Amino acid sequence: TNPLQIALVGLGTVGTGVIKLINENGAMIAQRAGRSVEIVAVSARDKGRDRGVNLGKYQWIDDLGALATNPDVDCVVELIGGSDGTALELAKNSLNARKSFITANKAMIAHHGMELARLAEDHGVSLKYEAAVAGGVPVIKGLREGASANRIERVYGILNGTCNYILTTMEKHGRDFDTVLKDAQDLGYAEADPGFDIEGVDAAHKLAILAALSFGKAIDFEGVETAGIRSIMAADIGQAKALGYRIRLLGMARIDDDKLFQRVNPYLVPESHPLAHIDGSTNAVVAEGNFSGRLMFQGAGAGDGPTASSVVADLIDIARGENGTVFAVPASKMEKIERAESGNR
Ligand code: HSE
Repeated sequence: TNPLQIALVGLGTVGTGVIKLINENGAMIAQRAGRSVEIVAVSARDKGRDRGVNLGKYQWIDDLGALATNPDVDCVVELIGGSDGTALELAKNSLNARKSFITANKAMIAHHGMELARLAEDHGVSLKYEAAVAGGVPVIKGLREGASANRIERVYGILNGTCNYILTTMEKHGRDFDTVLKDAQDLGYAEADPGFDIEGVDAAHKLAILAALSFGKAIDFEGVETAGIRSIMAADIGQAKALGYRIRLLGMARIDDDKLFQRVNPYLVPESHPLAHIDGSTNAVVAEGNFSGRLMFQGAGAGDGPTASSVVADLIDIARGENGTVFAVPASKMEKIERAESGNR
C-alpha cells in the first residue's frame, strides 16, 4: 500500500514533536495504520533555527499557496495557529484540492469550523482537530465516537493548561502571577499571545468546539460568556482553600429548554470534586451522557509530546481510511440554537 504522504506546516513546539514522534514510533504506526505515515514536506517561518531534528530529508515549502496542488502531498498538517489569514487560507485550499487536513488550531475551528467541515464533507475528505482541545487527551474522539449514542446536556472542564498551571502553582507555592506565567511560557504551554490564555479566550475556543460536538448543534463561539484569571490574587486562592474550595478556570456548556448556555469563568470547586485535584497543565473534561453516565477525560493539555500524540492519532485515522462527519452531525445538518436568555444565565 502507498504511504500516507504529509506536509507539516509550522515547526514550533508541536510540529517538532510530530517529527520526533513519527521518527520514534513510525514502524509501529505503519503496523497499526496498515501503511506508513511519512512526512514529505515541511514549512515554517524560520528556516534556519536548530530544532534538534533533522529536516534535511524533507522538501522545504516556501510557497504555501502551491501546497494544495503539490502531487506528493495527500494530507496537510497545520500547526501555525491564528483564526484567520495563512492558516485559514491553507485549510480552504487544501480541502478544495481534496487533501485531508489536520489542525491543532482551536481558534480557527471555533471561528470557521462549520464552513471548513462543510468543505471537507462536500469533497469527501477528512478534517481532523483532536489536538485542538485538551492537547493529548482524546476527548474529540471520545465524544464524537465513544459517547456518540448519548444525549449530552452538560459538558465542562479545565480547558486551559496555562491557567491551571498558574492557579495551582500559586496555590501550592504561594508564588505570584507574573513569574508563574513566565514559567508556563518557558514550558511551551502558553499561546503566542498569552492574553488568550489568561483572559479565557483559548478556553472559550475549546468550549465552543466541545459544545457543538456534545450537543450536535452549530458552533457558537460568539455566544461564550468569557472571563479570565487576571484578577485572581494569591489571597483569593488562600481564602477559597480555607473554605474547602479550589479555584479553577472552567469552561461549561449546557442545554436548557433547547437553549444553549456557554461560559468560561473561574469557579470554586469543592475539594470533594475530581476537578479540584487536576493540577499543573493537566486538562479534564466532564460530560454527562444520558446512558453512559458521567464521563471524565483527563491528561496533559499542552506541550509538545501530548499534542503531537493527538495530531498523529488523526494521521493514523486518515491512513486507515476513516472519514466520517467532522462533528457529531453532518455540517449541513448542524442547526443554530438560540442562546439562553441572560436572565436565566
Ligand atoms: N495555550 C494552551 C493551554 C495550549 O495553555 O492550554 C494548548 O491548547
